Amino acid sequence: MSITITHPQNSKITTQAVIRTKNTMYALGIFADRFPVHLYYGKKSRSADLTYRSWGSAFSPYYPEYGDSYMATTVSSEFPTFGMGDFRAAAIRVRDLSTGSDATEFSFRRMKKYKGRVAINAPIYGELPYAEADENTETLEMILDDAVTGCELHLYYTVFPESDVIARHMTLINKGKTPVSLEKCMSLCLDIPDTKYGLDLISTYGAHARERHVDRYKLSYGVHRITSRRGASSHMENPCILLCHPKATEERGEAYGFNIVYSGDFLDELEVDPSKKTRVLIGLGDETFSWRLEAGESFTSPEAVMTYSAHGIGEVSRNFHRFTRDHILPPEPFERRPVVLNSWEAFYFNIDGKLMEDFAAGAAEVGMDMPVMDDGWFGERRHDRAGLGDWYPHPSLFPDGLKAFVERAKAKGVKFGIWIEPEMVNPDSDLYRAHPEWALAAPGRVPLESRQQLVLDMGNPAVVDYLSDSFATCFKDVPLDYFKWDMNRHLSPVYSNVLPPERQKEASFRHMCGVYELFRRLHALFPNAMIENCSGGGGRYDLGMMKYSTQIWCSDNTDPVSRTYIQYGSTLGYPTATMSCHVANHGSSIEDPRKLNYGFRVALNGPLGYELNILGASDTAKATMSGQIEEYRAYEHLILRGDFYRLLDPFACGRYAYYFASADSRELLVTYLQNHGDPQKTVYTLRISRAIAGVTYKDTISGKTFTGEELRKGISVESDTEGLYAVMWHLVAE
Ligand code: GLA
Repeated sequence: MSITITHPQNSKITTQAVIRTKNTMYALGIFADRFPVHLYYGKKSRSADLTYRSWGSAFSPYYPEYGDSYMATTVSSEFPTFGMGDFRAAAIRVRDLSTGSDATEFSFRRMKKYKGRVAINAPIYGELPYAEADENTETLEMILDDAVTGCELHLYYTVFPESDVIARHMTLINKGKTPVSLEKCMSLCLDIPDTKYGLDLISTYGAHARERHVDRYKLSYGVHRITSRRGASSHMENPCILLCHPKATEERGEAYGFNIVYSGDFLDELEVDPSKKTRVLIGLGDETFSWRLEAGESFTSPEAVMTYSAHGIGEVSRNFHRFTRDHILPPEPFERRPVVLNSWEAFYFNIDGKLMEDFAAGAAEVGMDMPVMDDGWFGERRHDRAGLGDWYPHPSLFPDGLKAFVERAKAKGVKFGIWIEPEMVNPDSDLYRAHPEWALAAPGRVPLESRQQLVLDMGNPAVVDYLSDSFATCFKDVPLDYFKWDMNRHLSPVYSNVLPPERQKEASFRHMCGVYELFRRLHALFPNAMIENCSGGGGRYDLGMMKYSTQIWCSDNTDPVSRTYIQYGSTLGYPTATMSCHVANHGSSIEDPRKLNYGFRVALNGPLGYELNILGASDTAKATMSGQIEEYRAYEHLILRGDFYRLLDPFACGRYAYYFASADSRELLVTYLQNHGDPQKTVYTLRISRAIAGVTYKDTISGKTFTGEELRKGISVESDTEGLYAVMWHLVAE
């Protein structure tokens, strides 16, 4: 039982709900049978303080009947509303369009709990992505209403006890007689009491080819907003954030994690008020969103998730890793993840059917499982200035069609994958010439290009139908195993030709709903194919995309040194099973044994792939790669499903070390990566806390043995005077 609901006697809290996960506890109450207040989130404990407090203070508006026993701007709230006495950031703002008032208020009606969960319905096209329930999942649903507008608000808390995650979302139903406008829509609010020491915020930021660089700083007074207005979660921001005690480390200290299962404009809003309480809000980006609800209509927010650990930042990451693997990612499409050989960095646009058949043969020769034909195979796409939107194979590249070509390529003994970029259109395309109105562009203003392309309005059902019909026709009977779904520009300006003026702020959200719908249709059309997500590398590295994509191309930057930073940052919120890592040829690095080895060791952080011209590789390089693939297969179960521990932070010390542990801790895979040479050798100690005392482990790489105690005290590794230095230990209990 994860959820208990009680009705305390002789208390201002008339109803109380407590949620318990494996290690955490969350409590909320209803003040005076009316306002939902937050009581506790932290370590599971019988002695946890669940007291309700209101801090009476000057300049704080109050309801005459409650006086200073309920002052909205001083209490910890479960879902603060706009304009009714709480001056901090609001979770919801509803405009009554019959009066123009934004004063938003909901009163508690009832709560219930049940096994399982509700689906998250999108107002168009079916569903938003959300976490799948299992037999342990329970939901608490709280129902509130507003006597003035007639709106009903449902707050959902869906509990995933094994991963210590609570997922939250809300539904607003206009049960009144006149329209309202939802002006701000957050999925989750958490009010954290004054911690005395303050809290550090850990987030990731970046750029194209520099994704998810880690930023950690102490939150001071005021509002902090991490937000995307780009129509994509983006390379620049990521919705996953952590909050922790200023002294928290990977293994020690209190830490919270937050994220949203959504890939478009999001907002993580944090506010530290003058009494040092911290409000955390996770939801839809408020600058590019509003939603009009006619009488009888409803709107459901995306799902936000939170976790907590008393044992450091690493545990928060592992909670999210487990949660994502168990409840977000699609089922594994194949018995084992295919080792991909991608054509992009090998040939760019210079591909044809014959070359790709040879490429497939080259992949098969070294034991790679799946050549992927990247950009350049369709329409007039011989460069990036034309062809997007025209989804048919270029006739001169595949004289007897795509099906015969893919069959021949697969006959070499491999699977076969292909690149698509559905949401985009080049002005130089048949699609744009036929339907210029399908692209997002503001009336009277020049359509802004990015990489010579425009964005299709996926909120227009005709566009989604066109794309799914095009793919159904183009790939009919073609035995494809994989799609690389790319997205190579952001959305601006956002204006939809199928929406009236008063609904234009819905366009960005509608667009995202259309994208998800097309993902679902592609899966339904080609149920045997997996989807790898990509957005100019890792520009949509988020839980929304992970719902439909088995793995994500982590970055267009394939330089192993840069990758150590990007991969480290990606593991903060996301499991390594999603992190597609390729060995690529920089200059002629695959012919340099040290570079080829280092590229491979860096890539062993996620599902392995290659991105190089196998046809130009020497026999020595090919033999090395064959050996690498065999080695990867020996570790793959740990890389895809093991528990992940960060040991050395490349941002702090220029080297990255981590390990994977099997569930029973009897198998460990430890990696030390050193990008640059040390002028003087330094010894680093890698403490393997998951090693079991009393057990002897044998390193299958060096043949040495270690006791569990020794591993817990730490393996010493001496740094190298040259860079690109990697050491690994594969430790198996004897
Ligand atoms: C993006 C991707 C690359 C490649 C190109 C093709 O940049 O990240 O991997 O697919 O598009 O145009």
